[in-house]
Amino acid sequence: MPDMDTIVSLCKRRGFVFQGSEIYGGIGGFWDYGPLGCELKRNIRDAWWKAVVRARDDVVGVDASIIMHPRVWEASGHVGGFQDPMLDCRACKKRFRADQLCEDQGQKLGKTPDGNGYVLPPGVQCSACGSTDLTEPRAFNLMFESNTGPVKDDASRVYLRPETAQGIFTNFLNVLDTTRVKVPFGIAQIGKAFRNEINPRNYTFRSREFEQMELEFFIKPGTDAQWHEYWVRERMAWYTTIGLPAHRLHQYVYPNEELAHYASACVDVMYDFPFGRQELEGIAARGDFDLSRHAEFSGKKMEYFDPETNEKFVPHVVEPSAGVDRIALAVLCEAYGEEWVPKGDAGAARPAEPGAARPPEGYEARTVMRFTPNVAPIKAAVFPLLKNKPELVERARSLYDELKKVGAVFYDQTGAIGRRYRRQDEAGTPFGLTVDFQTLEDDTVTWRERDSMRQTRIPAAEAAGKLRDAIG
Ligand code: GAP
Repeated sequence: MPDMDTIVSLCKRRGFVFQGSEIYGGIGGFWDYGPLGCELKRNIRDAWWKAVVRARDDVVGVDASIIMHPRVWEASGHVGGFQDPMLDCRACKKRFRADQLCEDQGQKLGKTPDGNGYVLPPGVQCSACGSTDLTEPRAFNLMFESNTGPVKDDASRVYLRPETAQGIFTNFLNVLDTTRVKVPFGIAQIGKAFRNEINPRNYTFRSREFEQMELEFFIKPGTDAQWHEYWVRERMAWYTTIGLPAHRLHQYVYPNEELAHYASACVDVMYDFPFGRQELEGIAARGDFDLSRHAEFSGKKMEYFDPETNEKFVPHVVEPSAGVDRIALAVLCEAYGEEWVPKGDAGAARPAEPGAARPPEGYEARTVMRFTPNVAPIKAAVFPLLKNKPELVERARSLYDELKKVGAVFYDQTGAIGRRYRRQDEAGTPFGLTVDFQTLEDDTVTWRERDSMRQTRIPAAEAAGKLRDAIG
């Protein structure tokens, strides 16, 4: 597994991720995705939507607005309780999330007996300057505030949503009224969420603006455990389809004392990042908490009428909630490889020896991003062998135009063919197609596979179909 500096530098060099507002010195906790990064994220979203919505007949989608009625966040508990403990270092004035600062030093932030305050264990130091002169931890609400309309006062206060889930609950009745869904069924949403994190850290892992993919799966009360287990299995399996191997995926099963009072179960899907094992997704059995709270606060009955039993009930919900940016970061870390390859790609690659100044005689180094074809930002690259032979260029361009209908394809005629392969290896492009002099005779092209570097000759007419099959 590469270290984070390697990943950050590749992401910047190749245009996966840039610092937000970089020309103004950046802004903490906000990131921009470049040409390769935004394709990667789009493919991750598409893979999720395909698995969770399109491939099923019991889930539909919504796309709710980011700013919602402020009462939504009172009902959801975010106005009163969506807070992290924060403290300041009096010596260097740095601000920290108190629980993380304690954890980083092998300690645990305590709670006051009434449960409303925090107790800092003795000896905890500022991680920036080492001082122990720290303020008492205090609660800090993570929601970003704004105002609607021209007057800034309490009545116009609104929030940028800290999760997409509430846009699903508030549309529960609309979906029931406008579709033929029957419990058990789900409503899915992908979209931006905002949290004013005290310490954004680990690159894009903890950001202040990020994207969530959330499903609320509405079920009959009493079937919670079975549906929760089902969704844990489904979600764990999905991660392997986007290239995260089972041996780096783990489950954190919440013990009872860590569960919210309304939840009957919660499992986090964890991935072994270079900075440790961390959460990608939470899957919670939340009972009827959310629908009942919205019923209480809105005065609308959030019930389902079961036509088979003639019963009315408030459905329970199982919520798989994943972060696109964290998954993209995991996919980037997993894909990264450094190898020594025989010059001219003639033979098998060897893993690069860590710390070696250069590869052995006859070998060159390559960085390769081994994305699975379904999430790879560019699916294939098309190369004319030489750029100064118009007949090669013309055939390569027409092949490129044809393949563009299948997915994101790159055309490159600049530099030696070996260099062009290397550039695409580093971008993670799984396939390369070269138009050469034989193409002009029999209309075959070479089809190169990124990982094995194996080249085969295939009829150009078969290229689009082969690519479509590989992308899935
Ligand atoms: N509706 C439930 C909910 O929002 P969460 O555990 O707070 O649960 C779900 O968030 C997922 O959203 C996390 O597993 C993570 O992938 C992503 N996420 C949460 N906060 C994030 C942050 N500050 N930066 C990036 N992703 C975040």
